[in-house]
Amino acid sequence: MNSVLSVQNLSIEYSARRGRVQAIRNVSFDVQRGEALALIGESGSGKTTLGLGVVQLLPASAQITQGAITYRRDHNGAGAIEIDVLGLRGNGLREFRWKECAMVFQSALNALNPVLRIADQFADTAKAHGYLHGNALRERARHLLTLVRLDPERVWKSFPHELSGGMRQRVLIALSLLLEPQLLILDEPTTALDILTQRNIMDVLKELRGKLDFSLMFISHDLSLAAELADRVATVYAGKVVEVGDVKTIFKSPAHPYSIGLILAVPTITGTHENLSSIPGSPPDLIDLPSGCKFHPRCPLADHRCTRDEPELEDVSPGHRVACWNWRSAK
Ligand SMILES: Nc1ncnc2c1ncn2[C@@H]1O[C@H](COP(=O)(O)OP(=O)(O)O)[C@@H](O)[C@H]1O
Ligand SMILES: [Mg+2]
Repeated sequence: MNSVLSVQNLSIEYSARRGRVQAIRNVSFDVQRGEALALIGESGSGKTTLGLGVVQLLPASAQITQGAITYRRDHNGAGAIEIDVLGLRGNGLREFRWKECAMVFQSALNALNPVLRIADQFADTAKAHGYLHGNALRERARHLLTLVRLDPERVWKSFPHELSGGMRQRVLIALSLLLEPQLLILDEPTTALDILTQRNIMDVLKELRGKLDFSLMFISHDLSLAAELADRVATVYAGKVVEVGDVKTIFKSPAHPYSIGLILAVPTITGTHENLSSIPGSPPDLIDLPSGCKFHPRCPLADHRCTRDEPELEDVSPGHRVACWNWRSAK
């Protein structure tokens, strides 16, 4: 198998005052080497929690209650070394986070250290990992900054507050690639940005994928962005992957009523109002989940079985899987 990441039967809970939040429930998926996998779903469906789980940056209130995360480091093309991510501690974990798997967060606009010039942010990161220094570091950083379409001369000596939101986001993307990670996790990388800046970041990401060799986990609530970048799409609902398939299949013939609803809700540029439809109701309370299929209260196809038993992913066609009792009538 040529996957860089395998997540198996992962469950993550938060302890909150009101009770236990079941943020991720028995989720399994792979990221293949070189591919971009998009995780899409409404706000609150557990996407960020999943990303944080993979890089082991969950807050103390979170607990992984079951499952395994396996990362496969490419060994110079001669097979792969398996890393049990949940078993990593201390230095091993720090190394994993930058050198193997880097994550750019949703709140990334504040993720740069405000008192350090961009040059020093690169130097600090490199130093902490005994990576390049001096001219070699400068060259690598300049290369990455150019790839994200920044002027290295201008940016190098700047403080974060001297840069626009889009520029800071591009600095962070360049910085995340400094130690040549094989897997990059981008959590809503354009959400806080205006539409033109968003466009620009998407173009940068597409270009980067063509020029550098990394796999991507792209987290977004915006289906149209996922469509631009992803090879495969996983739809997440109430902490569970409810459909996964290649991007064309998910868009042309989605099988889960929730995916269908998401796709119909995307306004098109030629935007007639007939195209604008949305899913009635709202996502469930993850502390007090409905019985059976968690989507049944909002689902046009729900029947008695859906209220009683939760469906697991099953094959619709090779590579296309869905967790729905009634997908045959949905298609
Ligand atoms: N630190 C936390 N403590 C308690 N609940 C949390 C915490 N972080 C997130 N949650 C809850 O976990 C669920 C999933 O959140 P999140 O992973 O941020 O979803 P998404 O990224 O899809 O919007 C939500 O119900 C959210 O309220
Ligand atoms: Mg999120």
